[in-house]
Amino acid sequence: MNTITLENPAPQVSTDFMPLLGTDYVELYVGNAKQAAHYYKTAFGFQSLAYAGPETGVRDRASYVLIQEKMRLVLTSPMHSDHPIAEHHKKHGDGVKVLALWVDDAYKAYEEATRRGGKSYMEPTTLTDEKGEVKLAGIHTYGEVVHIFVERKNYQGIFMPGFVKWESDYNPKPSGLKYVDHCVGNVGWNQMNPWVKFYEDVLGFRNILSFDDKDISTEYSALMSKVMSNGNGYVKFPINEPAEGKKKSQVEEYLDFYEGEGVQHIAVATNNIIETVTDLKSRGVEFLKIPASYYATVLERVGQIDEDLKPLSELGILIDRDDEGYLLQIFTKPVEDRPTMFFEIIQRKGARSFGKGNFKALFEALELEQANRGNL
Ligand code: FE2
Repeated sequence: MNTITLENPAPQVSTDFMPLLGTDYVELYVGNAKQAAHYYKTAFGFQSLAYAGPETGVRDRASYVLIQEKMRLVLTSPMHSDHPIAEHHKKHGDGVKVLALWVDDAYKAYEEATRRGGKSYMEPTTLTDEKGEVKLAGIHTYGEVVHIFVERKNYQGIFMPGFVKWESDYNPKPSGLKYVDHCVGNVGWNQMNPWVKFYEDVLGFRNILSFDDKDISTEYSALMSKVMSNGNGYVKFPINEPAEGKKKSQVEEYLDFYEGEGVQHIAVATNNIIETVTDLKSRGVEFLKIPASYYATVLERVGQIDEDLKPLSELGILIDRDDEGYLLQIFTKPVEDRPTMFFEIIQRKGARSFGKGNFKALFEALELEQANRGNL
């Protein structure tokens, strides 16, 4: 059983200067949003929600908004090469541009964040249409990623002004994905602590867990990680940096191929990971393979669980336990040709941690993939 280091117990303050209601949406800049949208519908079970593009008066880009339960995914491509989105895609390939934060007061969130040192990305803006108004404002974070504060309490429309309902005749079933559990950033050497401080100072987050290179290393691959959480725990951003190992860290491989810092994975919650992962596999989603040896001893480590071990081992689902319960998790292979962003599917059964006990098995699986790419 692994032990969890609680860095900072909840501070004895009653006001949270940056109250967040959750993740509003995740936006990826991609090479071909039309095809990416098809992939996320077909493979992951997202539903068509909204669209903006030339047909709706937006001349320079096309954006497809998909939804599954509470998770909104926006996929955007530029119309021309001389566009900042085209530059972003040329450098990074497909990747996350926006981690949007749902707030009650976007102007106040922006005012607080910039006053505390956050660098402005988008001045406070109010968008209106016949369904009401959405207020937006944004700040930069690591790499080229930004946080946009979204205030939608006075909006009854489908997504936000400028978007129309996306009616599609192709509507594959949902896969049981519910909401964004956490989003992990990979930052450069010695950059973890500066970004931890950024989330503390600018957004009022706390460091709730830390993993050093002894926790997270195999013979070869090493990294360090600190988990940042907002006050109510609805938004969690672990930050990874590479650590020295015998060979190249998996975080370093990401930084090389993403050509900079960025989002490593998005963890999405489900209430039934066996059903969801069985479904995702049948739709063509590829997952990391876990050595069979993992399952020979896992129950000695985590104790009794509700699920049968057989389907978990057949699917390659990992198990970990902390003081509050246990969790089940699995990681996809990267969802683009560059070995960059991937997804995690997670089912929490009490546990609020991040699967530290799985790191060794997981990284051995990752290294196998990295070696197959010739990058270890
Ligand atoms: Fe994760």
